[in-house]
Amino acid sequence: MDKIIDLRSDTVTKPSLTMRQIMAAAEVGDDVFGDDPTVIKLERKTAELLGKEAALFVPSGTMANQISLRVLCQPGDEVICERKAHIVFDEVAAAAALSGIMLRPIDGESGRLSPEQIRDAYHQPDIHRPNSRLVALENTHNRAGGKVLDLDYQNSVVAVTRELELGFYLDGARLWNAAIALKVAPAQIAAPFDMVSVCFSKGLGAPIGSAVCGSRESILKARRIRKMFGGGMRQVGIIASAALYALENNYARLQDDHDRAKKLANGLVQIDGIQINPEDIQTNIVIFRIEKSQTRFLQKMADRGVLMVAFGKELIRAVIHLDIAEEDISTAVSVAEQAIKEC
Ligand SMILES: Cc1ncc(COP(=O)(O)O)c(C=O)c1O
Repeated sequence: MDKIIDLRSDTVTKPSLTMRQIMAAAEVGDDVFGDDPTVIKLERKTAELLGKEAALFVPSGTMANQISLRVLCQPGDEVICERKAHIVFDEVAAAAALSGIMLRPIDGESGRLSPEQIRDAYHQPDIHRPNSRLVALENTHNRAGGKVLDLDYQNSVVAVTRELELGFYLDGARLWNAAIALKVAPAQIAAPFDMVSVCFSKGLGAPIGSAVCGSRESILKARRIRKMFGGGMRQVGIIASAALYALENNYARLQDDHDRAKKLANGLVQIDGIQINPEDIQTNIVIFRIEKSQTRFLQKMADRGVLMVAFGKELIRAVIHLDIAEEDISTAVSVAEQAIKEC
């Protein structure tokens, strides 16, 4: 087997030689004392890119989400969100376990809640009810297959959050992909939100790291909560330098990942036994349906060096990233065709 084509996630990328050299040479300090120059540079750059006053470097997207929810809510508050959002599905009930926050998951369409659904979910202040405090969106939406929330949609939601005096949060783990797909600046996507998270360790290809962005005041609170959650890090200029390198060098190329995801979908749709609509592919995530055993299919793929993951009943997910070359897509399609035949 020449090369493993690892499509399980865009988190599997390996740092390039140049990225490793930059990491080795990074200037560092103690970030809990606030004097790591590379972290300061990364936080300034990220805040600027997102059009926010300040940013905070954190170890993971999950911690970025949980710190933000804690800043924006009190115990007993309720967060209105889409049912398949990462904060609902994939964060080990952290909002409840760490912060006493109740999530109010609502069935969405392509990762979207309509303004009417938000209005219906909102509780008028009442001694019996949780306090509706926040609306949380995810852009791009992972479990909806990397779907993009466009600016008009976001603006229609912000109008309701203002009317109901709710906070507004974005899980922007893949905001970079959304910005590329919409051909807008990241700050335009971040604009309506009180706080926004972004990840450097997904499509951008850094080995670790995320950031939370917002007002100076909210980031001051976030810094304290990061320490409480055990995320205060020391000489992390080493990893912040990789995130800076990733922002500067791997952002514009995300379009290649989107094109390859489309190409993969166009190949898969030709295969008997695979259901997918290539029109649904907007960014780097490809989700398709198979009627055969998922376990057998994934094993047959893995035996030939192509890795994907099960992503719900009958669903398989493949994610394109910077370690996936153009020719890997045709290989993945022909391997999928053989695997389906053998299942
Ligand atoms: C939309 C979204 N938010 C947050 C996260 C969490 O990121 P991490 O794995 O760095 O905790 C992920 C991870 O895939 C994600 O897809």
